[in-house]
Amino acid sequence: MKYAFAKRVRHLQSSAVRDILKVVNQGNIISFAGGLPDDGLFPAKAIEDAFSRAFSKGNKALQYGETEGYRPLREVILERMAEKDITGFTADHVLMTTGSQQAIDLFSRVLISPGDVILTEEPTYLAALQVFQSYEATIIPVKCDEDGMIMSDLLSKIKLYKPKIMYVVPTFSNPAGRVWTLERRKELIKLIHKHHVLVFEDDPYGDIQFTNEGYTPIAALDDGSHVLYTSTFSKTAVPALRTGWIVGPYQVIRMMAQAKQANDLHSNSLAHQALYELCRHFDLDGHIQSIRELYAHRKDVMVESLSAAKKSGIITFEEPKGGMFLWLEASANVNTQALLPRAIQKGMAYVPGAPFYAGEPKQNTLRLNFTHATDEEIVKGMQALLTMFQEVEEETSLIK
Ligand SMILES: Cc1ncc(COP(=O)(O)O)c(C=O)c1O
Repeated sequence: MKYAFAKRVRHLQSSAVRDILKVVNQGNIISFAGGLPDDGLFPAKAIEDAFSRAFSKGNKALQYGETEGYRPLREVILERMAEKDITGFTADHVLMTTGSQQAIDLFSRVLISPGDVILTEEPTYLAALQVFQSYEATIIPVKCDEDGMIMSDLLSKIKLYKPKIMYVVPTFSNPAGRVWTLERRKELIKLIHKHHVLVFEDDPYGDIQFTNEGYTPIAALDDGSHVLYTSTFSKTAVPALRTGWIVGPYQVIRMMAQAKQANDLHSNSLAHQALYELCRHFDLDGHIQSIRELYAHRKDVMVESLSAAKKSGIITFEEPKGGMFLWLEASANVNTQALLPRAIQKGMAYVPGAPFYAGEPKQNTLRLNFTHATDEEIVKGMQALLTMFQEVEEETSLIK
């Protein structure tokens, strides 16, 4: 049978990360590929207690719920958003989603018609690119440096393409671990107001910071009209409950809620009730502090394992100030995609950088997750990676 799939799924490809994970899960390979939190940190007992509390409310806890999500949880989220200076919203401006991934999808569903331009960072979150492609968007990457998007490039692309939407991960981005400076965030706000661009700010990692610098979300600089802010419980509590949220202008949230009705009626309301109980009876902020400490330590182990190679110029990277990823650039002659099978043979896996680019990829880049492997595994895995790069250097000099 030849299945006549819709035009819009023609360009859909399986996620490089998911495919790698499948291979990696089968063998004895140290994986730095997925964006997996450390299993040991999951507050399993507190979550069990939270579910018991939800169940103690009787069978109504098991009933269909509102599309927008369990209202008391939305109120808790507003409190947590206010701590980040995201204010001026009510529970009606909050939509609970099945992971923040669904927020990306619903946003795209209500705003992208085939051929519409969306501006993104370069590189950017692979699974967001997949969503935009599935809605047949024209994705235009904007040049970035270590301080965020380069505003002159953004302005020229706004003038050229007249986009109505943008997608950014300004705090500890996936994959680059990049943090935008406050100045760039403020400049962005000025530009989007002047040119009427709606921004989707994706912030799953903002809470996982290793310094006390504190970062102002772009949404906190807005007046509630031009920025939609999304985050998730996946990295701070557990990903299995698949609970994220989006806060922003009412008209957009309302349209997304209608799209959600067509999509799945509502997210898992039992999980919402449990997360509400968790936020009320468990020290989530204390827990986030333990996450920060462990991940900062693992990041240190990874940076230390790579430091000699960085000094000798074989690789370059910026030390992450938060989040879950280290973005590495190898010598120009290295193709990380082609080398992945060899890395796996050596017992480690990473995600090649190329799929994170909407434009011309840098083939010598790769993403390493530092939150899931143990210290010993990180040391061993980095040794294997560097040995492979060393071999490639030697092979290349032989050819020369
Ligand atoms: C930048 C970014 N956005 C969104 C997500 C989706 O997270 P979830 O759907 O688990 O909330 C991820 C997950 O890794 C991510 O890295």
